[in-house]
Amino acid sequence: MLTYASTMKVVFATAEFASVVSAGGLGSASAGLVAELRRQGVDVIPVMPDHIGLELAGERIIDLDVPEWAAPARARIGIAAAVGEIVLVEVPGIRRPHPYLDANGEGWSDNDRRFFAFSAAVAALHRTLGADLLHLNDWHTATTLAHLEARPPTVLTVHTLGYQGATDIGWLDAFPHHRRAFEIHHSCNPLAGAIRLSDAVVAVSPTYAAEIRTPAAGCGLDGVLRDRGDAVVGILNGIDTELWDPEKDPTLAAAYSVADLSGKQQCRDALRAEMQLDPSDGPLLSVVTRLTEQKGVDIIAEVARYLEPIDCQLVVLGAGERGLVDALTAVAAEHPGRVVFHDGYDEALSHRITAGSDFFLMPSRFEPCGLAQMQAMRYGTIPIVTDVGGLHDTVVDLDAHPRRGTGFVAATPTPVAVLDAVHRATRRWSASRRLDGARRRSMGIDWSWQGPAMQYRALYDRVMESRAAR
Ligand code: ADP
Ligand code: GLC
Repeated sequence: MLTYASTMKVVFATAEFASVVSAGGLGSASAGLVAELRRQGVDVIPVMPDHIGLELAGERIIDLDVPEWAAPARARIGIAAAVGEIVLVEVPGIRRPHPYLDANGEGWSDNDRRFFAFSAAVAALHRTLGADLLHLNDWHTATTLAHLEARPPTVLTVHTLGYQGATDIGWLDAFPHHRRAFEIHHSCNPLAGAIRLSDAVVAVSPTYAAEIRTPAAGCGLDGVLRDRGDAVVGILNGIDTELWDPEKDPTLAAAYSVADLSGKQQCRDALRAEMQLDPSDGPLLSVVTRLTEQKGVDIIAEVARYLEPIDCQLVVLGAGERGLVDALTAVAAEHPGRVVFHDGYDEALSHRITAGSDFFLMPSRFEPCGLAQMQAMRYGTIPIVTDVGGLHDTVVDLDAHPRRGTGFVAATPTPVAVLDAVHRATRRWSASRRLDGARRRSMGIDWSWQGPAMQYRALYDRVMESRAAR
């Protein structure tokens, strides 16, 4: 029975929210979850930094009472197109061309101050709005609780444990409450504090929830997470199944569906032409990713060198670290007409690539959830992934489980294991009519936010109930 969730008011704080400002999965996940919670009747108000000064319809200003170092802070509340009601918080230094990174791809040197000020403002807003529950996301929002002496019922979602916002221990003096919770390894660690202080901690997939409690994947916080016992849970993300719908996607050369896959061939032909790949009957592999070590981009560059003997082509779309851009540029130059690298962040192109390819390569070293592999399956594009985090939870190996398989899973994040999975994939592609059965199976899976949002509502309820019982 979901009792509280349908009547409670939730403040949902996040650094990114698609389509306002989004640098990756956090923005998509925030927007997808909030939209579905609203559809399910929860009164949830998203709060994000005023990164770009977006104009809101019917705007109202709320002045916020924050510490001197975080002032002047003010919030604008109003309606953003395709989002609905949202709060944009302005604090000193928050407005930048990229939310986290400077022109060299390095983190802004004052990211601690920027997001600590944002979090202080979120606390003030929470008090002003008199919300019932606070939902925090990642380290950028984690110090909100340092400004709320009487902690409100709080849920923290950890989208990645890799970024904790750890900084100089001197920052603790700037926090009015719960300072000790934020101290670990002689530093001020926002994420550690929020893990300790929140009523519930959600990891974005069940496997990631288990992994982060081990030293190998705990990024130094596995002990803190283990201490929280069953307050740490895993809830798999969903994807926006309206934005990602091969039957209605306006960016595609042709629409297609589970019932009629013929349009996918047109998408393939159009992609080969657009990317100036050689004409071929072989399988087309694709990658759409941030270029970071996490995503195994160096593994992709290595694997790309061995595709010629198996008559395979590769398209990569990615933006990020300079060294990885250089590695991919070099491998594309070595294999003209067979390997293409497009340097950039381009949503429309990401749809055309996902639709127009046969396999989607995602050899992550770790992956809290991953949305791209679910988007690929929705488009009948078979994922080739590593056996980590959310990839483990969403992709079933076709060789191990021919009847219910949806992709190919490499045992380790190494070039040898990933190349082996690519070989297995292309062999089966040739042997069994381009794997149309597995494609249809993947396309039929419900990857929407409906189920995950119900799990969040049940969690909100449990948190409220246990608070009420105290
Ligand atoms: P992460 O958040 O770790 O980057 P996810 O798979 O959860 O990984 O989410 C990434 C999202 O960003 C996906 O929707 C993916 O399609 C999109 N994306 C990543 N890189 C690009 C790019 N270069 N151009 C367009 N979309 C991208
Ligand atoms: C992070 C993770 C990714 C996850 C996304 C949304 O960016 O790297 O795995 O899907 O957050 O939760």
